[in-house]
Amino acid sequence: GIQCTVYPSHDDASRAVADCISTILREKPTCVLGLATGSTPLEVYAELVRRHHDTGLDFAGATTFNLDEYVGLSPGHPQSYAHYMNEHLFGQVNVDRGRTHLPNTRADDLGQSAEQYEMLVRSAGGVDLQLLGIGTNGHIGFNEPGTAEDSVTRVVDLAASTIRSNSRFFRDESDVPRRAITMGISTILRARKIVLLATGESKADAVADAVTGPVTTGNPASFLQNHADVHFVLDAAAAALL
Ligand code: GLP
Repeated sequence: GIQCTVYPSHDDASRAVADCISTILREKPTCVLGLATGSTPLEVYAELVRRHHDTGLDFAGATTFNLDEYVGLSPGHPQSYAHYMNEHLFGQVNVDRGRTHLPNTRADDLGQSAEQYEMLVRSAGGVDLQLLGIGTNGHIGFNEPGTAEDSVTRVVDLAASTIRSNSRFFRDESDVPRRAITMGISTILRARKIVLLATGESKADAVADAVTGPVTTGNPASFLQNHADVHFVLDAAAAALL
């Protein structure tokens, strides 16, 4: 089953996730980290940057793979996940930029680009620690409801509810990309360890369904029940329906 730990606040939960990442960086300096974007992990990255400056937390040997990237944003677009990672982590710690990876959504052949990303994750030896957020509809990465458990990295259409929800980061809902490349459910489940951070009451339904509901494509996060080492790090509001 999924192990859940509930913290009083978003900041406490973020520090707990930063602890997991700090521990693996110290125990295995050449670890492979699976990284997530969205508003939820911002304080995790801020805490890691602080630890890099204050305690010398070392990213020099780490390899990173992000879960997903929008299709159709110009390079350097402020809402691209590449830009997000530069701003909040990569530009502020000593990571080797040659070892940071996001899906390339500017390739001519997006299908081939997705396949190459899947192969790249495998050839790096697999992800040691995968950080996840969760959508209000239970999506992980951009694996929307209806996604099969054996899905791999591929081009996907975003759900209407995701476009609406993510429009808060754009000028207008019509500016939100309609497609993305995302790691698949099977890509995510191959990680040796998974930590999902969820905070706020808007996530309570999706979290409860993922943890206590049936394993179903209706809630893609419920597939995490099939993994041996998954930890949900929650604040009180996100855990309210457990
Ligand atoms: C986004 C991302 C996910 C993220 C989720 C929740 O669309 N693709 O990786 O976990 O939605 O986002 P937030 O943390 O902003 O609530």
